Amino acid sequence: MSSEPPSVPRHIAIIMDGNGRWAEKRHRPRRFGHRAGQKAVRQCVEYCLRHGVPVLTLFAFSSENWQRPPSEVSALMGLFVKALDKEVDELHAHGVRLNFIGALERFEAPLLQRMQAASHRTRDNTALQVNIAVNYGGRWDIAQAARTLANEVARGQLKADAIDETLFGARLCLSELPAPDLFIRTGGERRISNFLLWQLAYTELYFTDTLWPDIDAACLDAAMADYAGRQRRFGRTGAQVSGEPVAH
Ligand code: FPP
Repeated sequence: MSSEPPSVPRHIAIIMDGNGRWAEKRHRPRRFGHRAGQKAVRQCVEYCLRHGVPVLTLFAFSSENWQRPPSEVSALMGLFVKALDKEVDELHAHGVRLNFIGALERFEAPLLQRMQAASHRTRDNTALQVNIAVNYGGRWDIAQAARTLANEVARGQLKADAIDETLFGARLCLSELPAPDLFIRTGGERRISNFLLWQLAYTELYFTDTLWPDIDAACLDAAMADYAGRQRRFGRTGAQVSGEPVAH
């Protein structure tokens, strides 16, 4: 059927898990693992640029990650600030558009200003859109969409009866983009962990035991090959999808 999604995903969403364990295995502090994780982010962005993947969404800091020891939270905030200072020029030169999703107002001014400046500076780039989810949670996203719709109804801009999946989905983060085709979680856990709950409804899920700092092109090739072999049915039968005559 010609409506089949292409074998290269239009959107990859990743939970980058395993930085802490990677560092602990080396008897180093966890922040050492996060620094190594930053290098893996760079490799992954380069991979998407090389393979024509147009959208990449990375879960960098969840709504729940504030519960980590203050020293780790502050190391991560420092790393994000430094990463933005260091990487934005090159990302911009390669045509990467940076976009941040989550409850951004919780961040302190130095980081918030850098995120806003990076989004603004790269907003017209088209080679690859990288969405970085920070202080993001899938439940937060659904709640903020519900709140937006409730306010529109209260202001008389919308009738409650008009709310359907399309209208609801349009108030969620990333609504202007195709939903992720491929979700990857590294680090061995097999969970969604409050990532893009609505947006992942029909996404192909891929889990690997590889710790995030060890991710390289070969690991991403394996995920892409696995994805290319999946039959995406979206509720239809296998025969319908492959175009065989339908038996009644
Ligand atoms: C999960 O590993 C990782 C994080 C909570 C942070 C992700 C941050 C990076 C990859 C660093 C750079 C990111 C950007 C966007 C510049 P974990 O700490 O939960 O590892 P563990 O499960 O082994 O403890």
